[in-house]
This record gives sequence, C-alpha cells and structure tokens, in this order.
Amino acid sequence: MTNETIEDTTEKPAEVADDDVRILAFLCNWCSYAGADLAGVSRMQYPPNVRDIRVMCTGTISPYFVLKAFQEGIDGVLIAGCHIGDCHYGKGNYATAKRFRVLEDLLTSIGVDPRRIRLEWVSAAEGAKFQQVITDFTEQVRQAGRSPLGRKGGGQA
Ligand code: FES
Repeated sequence: MTNETIEDTTEKPAEVADDDVRILAFLCNWCSYAGADLAGVSRMQYPPNVRDIRVMCTGTISPYFVLKAFQEGIDGVLIAGCHIGDCHYGKGNYATAKRFRVLEDLLTSIGVDPRRIRLEWVSAAEGAKFQQVITDFTEQVRQAGRSPLGRKGGGQA
C-alpha cells in the first residue's frame, strides 16, 4: 500500500461571487442551446454568471416568465433563439421579436434598467457568437448593477 493520492482533475463549475450579477438565459433548443453546447465542447471561456433554461422555441417564452425572474431578483435576462427565417416552428422568433419590444417598454415603464434584458439570434454553428454575447451581456448587466429588488433565497443562481 502506498501513500500516493489520486488527483481529482474533473472541472468544477466556476463559482460566482456573492456580490456579482446573476443572469437567466432562455435558449431555444434548436439554435442557441446548441450554440451554447458548441461553445462548451470547444472549451470557449465565458463568465459563469448565466444559468440557462432550454425552451423548444423562443416563441414559447411568456413575458410572465421574464417578469417573474425580475421579481425574484435576477439581475439580467437573455433570450436567444434561431436567426430570423430559421425558426424551426416557422414564425416563433418573429413573435418573440415583436413581444420583446413590448416587454422592453413595459420593463422600462416599471423602472427596470433596459440594460438588464437582451434578445439575440445565435445559431447552432455560432459557439463563438454565444461566447461573445454572454461576455458582453454579463458586462452590461454588471454596469447596471445588482437588482434593486434583491435576490430571493440568496446564494448561487
Ligand atoms: S425554434 Fe428557435 S426560435 Fe423558434
């Protein structure tokens, strides 16, 4: 028997500092989620502040989900889906684009900083774009600061 220890080389999820921002990303299954996956398997680095929710199409994202996320104290919300013309269900992302403008106006009217929300089109082949969007948006939300509503439950996003 030896005293040799086995080194754990598995990657641990990066920690987000308690005072850093938390971002929720709604990602369309067919494009942006696959783009995120490509960024991951390509080992592209981006901030760990985002937790994602996979949806079948951005057209299924109710504005209520976004409002609820802000009510719960999330600092930023990203919606990402297929490029216009590429929605796997036809016109889901057209509806999202229209709904997003209304959502932006609504959020602004109730005092939510517009820097806290973003809509992006990211295809399954655009891992590098996904990386860039996450990096840029995280910095933008950091500039807006932590949510004035506070975070329910404290801890990690
Ligand atoms: S399937 Fe991706 S936005 Fe509709």
